[in-house]
Amino acid sequence: MAGEPKRLEHPKSVYVIGFIFKIITLSVLIAVVYQITFSPHGPAVLVPIKEKIEESQRSAILEEVRKQEEYEKHRHFHHVVEYPQLPENMRPVCYICHSDYPHAKNKKVRAMLNMHTQFFVCETCHIEERKDREVVYRWYNPYDETPAGPFFGTSYEPETGNLVEVEDQFSKIAPYFRAGETYESAIQIQDAPLAQDYVRVRDKLTPEQRDNVKKKFHVNIKAKGHECKICHTRNGILDFKKLGFTANRTIDLEQLNIKGMVTKYEQFYIPNLFSE
Ligand code: HEC
Ligand code: HEC
Ligand code: HEC
Repeated sequence: MAGEPKRLEHPKSVYVIGFIFKIITLSVLIAVVYQITFSPHGPAVLVPIKEKIEESQRSAILEEVRKQEEYEKHRHFHHVVEYPQLPENMRPVCYICHSDYPHAKNKKVRAMLNMHTQFFVCETCHIEERKDREVVYRWYNPYDETPAGPFFGTSYEPETGNLVEVEDQFSKIAPYFRAGETYESAIQIQDAPLAQDYVRVRDKLTPEQRDNVKKKFHVNIKAKGHECKICHTRNGILDFKKLGFTANRTIDLEQLNIKGMVTKYEQFYIPNLFSE
């Protein structure tokens, strides 16, 4: 075996240097990949995918928001159209300070309450009851002293079971104070002197002064609106027949026995709604 060179081991330093080069190569590779995929300075080819994944993970919150928005969009349930807005001076005073979706606090019912503001003025639920005056609920239309209907939500199409489409887009059920044969509107609109005055000067008022004005607008208003049961029951405060609701629609509203509704809402914070 003489003459054959003895196999030499690499010196240890070679492994060390090799290792260092591997680290450098790996670092460069990682940097390049990052530059191409996620870096804001590169083409960011994977960023959309990352966002998608992040979004799907955030869904618990988004879901809630979307559900709420979806609800608000379908405010009138079966009737998905944008509502025509009244000119400012004809809107009720409440909208000077409150939005179209004034209910926020009670998560379980806020979408439902906000939905009702599409066919009620605020006072229909928030009017303060007093012994010395009788409140009567009638259709109110800012453009028409004696609206005749047909009104939205009062009848079903026999073939489809959907609510009948109507032309009247502005009528809402509103409270009136009754004095003998005359009915005095219980709502204030922004045309009223107090409202106009407030809009003119509100920027100059201190918070205390604003609070005082607020009280003037709230004179006939109770903090908690009527409960569901006050209307969704037999012989409730609304005279469904007089208001033009058909017999079968009335039964549904009195009992709220719409498919799926009961299971969905039976845990409402107002107990016994569906037990009658
Ligand atoms: C000048 C501004 C202003 C006007 C006009 C106004 N509000 Fe308010 N309202 C407020 C403020 C401020 C609050 C307290 C903050 C909140 O809860 O949003 C409030 C609170 C409320 C509350 C909750 C209970 C309470 O008293 O805190 C109800 C219900 C209410 N308003 C109904 C109405 C109705 C109905 C109208 C129309 C007749 C109306 N508001 C007009 C400013 C106003
Ligand atoms: C279908 C009946 C109904 C109608 C219509 C209605 N409300 Fe209410 N509102 C209620 C009830 C019930 C509550 C109490 C909810 C709770 O349990 O906190 C309430 C509470 C409120 C609150 C305080 C709590 C919150 O959710 O922030 C405000 C502010 C309010 N309503 C404003 C208005 C305004 C402004 C309008 C008209 C645009 C209006 N409401 C129309 C029934 C109604
Ligand atoms: C002041 C009376 C009143 C109060 C209070 C009221 N509702 Fe209603 N609700 C009505 C009327 C009237 C309609 C139908 C309006 C229309 O379609 O034109 C209605 C519609 C509904 C509908 C839709 C039914 C359908 O087929 O379109 C549901 C669900 C409902 N209400 C649930 C509730 C719940 C839950 C509450 C309490 C948080 C409540 N309502 C409070 C009078 C009331």
